[in-house]
Amino acid sequence: MTVEAGLVALCDAAEVSEDTPVRADVAGESFAVFLLEGEFYVTQDLCTHGPGSLSEGFVEGCEIECPFHQGKFDIRTGAATYAPCTEALRTWSARLVDGKVCIDPSEQRSAA
Ligand code: FES
Repeated sequence: MTVEAGLVALCDAAEVSEDTPVRADVAGESFAVFLLEGEFYVTQDLCTHGPGSLSEGFVEGCEIECPFHQGKFDIRTGAATYAPCTEALRTWSARLVDGKVCIDPSEQRSAA
């Protein structure tokens, strides 16, 4: 599902709402796509603490609460913000192209 060179489309922007993140399985990786105050954010879907799928978690302000052990991460940076999570999520810059949320997989970031 390539949109333009280097970019990979994860989902339709219209699928994502502030309360309902979307999981996208692309190129052997699972991503969670979030909408926060009109901006899209992309993190890895898998919790760094265990098997929790963050797209099935609960959005609280700018944080996502893992449905497994209720650890939390900052959606904007991937930083772990609440125990038992301590390791940051990988994140990617989200871009909107033709109504789709896209990332450049090579632009993976990790919170300090
Ligand atoms: S698996 Fe996410 S908090 Fe434990």
